[in-house]
Amino acid sequence: MATELESAFAEAARLISDTSKLVRVVLSGRRRNLTVPVERIDIRPVLIKESLVLQVSENDGRVTTAKNIAPKDFDAHAFLEMGYANILVEHTAGAFSIRITKKGEAQVHEEKGAREQNLEHDRKKARLLAASDPFLIEVGISDASGNVKPSRSDKYLQVEEFLRLLVPTLNSAIEAKQIAKPTPDKPLVIADLGCGNAYLTFAVHQYLKSIDMPVHVIGIDIRPESLKRNTEIAKKLHIENSIEFKAEAIDQTSITSCDVAIALHACDTATDDAIAWAVNGGAKMLLIAPCCQHDLQTQMSNVPQPWNLLTKHGLMKERLGDLMTDALRAQILKLVGYRTEVIEFIGGEHTPRNIMIRAILTGAKADAKEIETYKQMLSDWQIDPALASRLNMEI
Ligand SMILES: C[S@@+](CC[C@H](N)C(=O)[O-])C[C@H]1O[C@@H](n2cnc3c(N)ncnc32)[C@H](O)[C@@H]1O
Repeated sequence: MATELESAFAEAARLISDTSKLVRVVLSGRRRNLTVPVERIDIRPVLIKESLVLQVSENDGRVTTAKNIAPKDFDAHAFLEMGYANILVEHTAGAFSIRITKKGEAQVHEEKGAREQNLEHDRKKARLLAASDPFLIEVGISDASGNVKPSRSDKYLQVEEFLRLLVPTLNSAIEAKQIAKPTPDKPLVIADLGCGNAYLTFAVHQYLKSIDMPVHVIGIDIRPESLKRNTEIAKKLHIENSIEFKAEAIDQTSITSCDVAIALHACDTATDDAIAWAVNGGAKMLLIAPCCQHDLQTQMSNVPQPWNLLTKHGLMKERLGDLMTDALRAQILKLVGYRTEVIEFIGGEHTPRNIMIRAILTGAKADAKEIETYKQMLSDWQIDPALASRLNMEI
């Protein structure tokens, strides 16, 4: 129902101010032509030393920081008017949500149904994937008793954190109509490129199915052993109708396109193959966590002064090469019409390869200045990134 924005905000503020019934508030998405301070804000009442406060958790797409505000100092209108497009207020008797359209109109939705208030202030981060989930046992992350094997705990966390970024990004893209709402007839097609033992492939499939999102997931890896192992697991889990595997090189795969391309540590230029394949096939969203890379390091022989100080020591040259490779990948994605960010998807203690490139297709035309900066960098450093040669870039 379209409502005056002002009256929708007034109702949301009224519900928020009743802290005896408030369950939580979520602010997400960005209104057209407005900027927001962080990607998402969650607000909920918590009890600290027997006093009720509002805990405000701000997530910038990478880390969450929390602060507590006393209800008497809490200005609900200031939060509601920050520029978020989606506002959800849950209370003990139901939920009230506002979606602000591109035209600035408020679409208001009210839902009845009891919700529980949880005032504990240090709730444990709920896992998206229960360690005892049969798929985690089958892929070898958990043991037969449903506990994560110590040797696999880093991979478990990488997959979990990957999923934690994928799900809200996907929901926002569907809400913003950048990705069509999946239906049983037209499920969301997700390709995991360089899937290896398919920990992430299965996790994405199982999690999205658990939230009733129709999906078809494809895992692609050059190794025939991966195909055999993963297909057997899919059959054992009775999910072979909606998950499939291919033993193919990414740049020669028989699959022509997907809606969402994901890759977790596809080696070296396999990450460039993955990005190029996804872009050439018109993928709407890419979540790519790159692996080791050697492409630019080997090209850095004519480094412009005084930047040669950065390449004098092998260790730094390697790190710089990694950074430049990912910076150029992000820039190239921007130039070919994707809104692109580079974020840290997991703490460095779980993998040194903890950068993620997140890109959403908007089709925005490349800015002349952005093209110029890109070209200047290639010319100054006399480098030619692997991704550029794999894409038909009209710049
Ligand atoms: C480091 S493993 C990561 C596997 C998995 N994504 C994970 O995170 O557990 C990289 C995988 O990419 C695969 N790979 C490397 N180059 C490839 C290519 N050009 N085409 C398809 N798969 C490739 C390898 O066989 C390997 O299984």
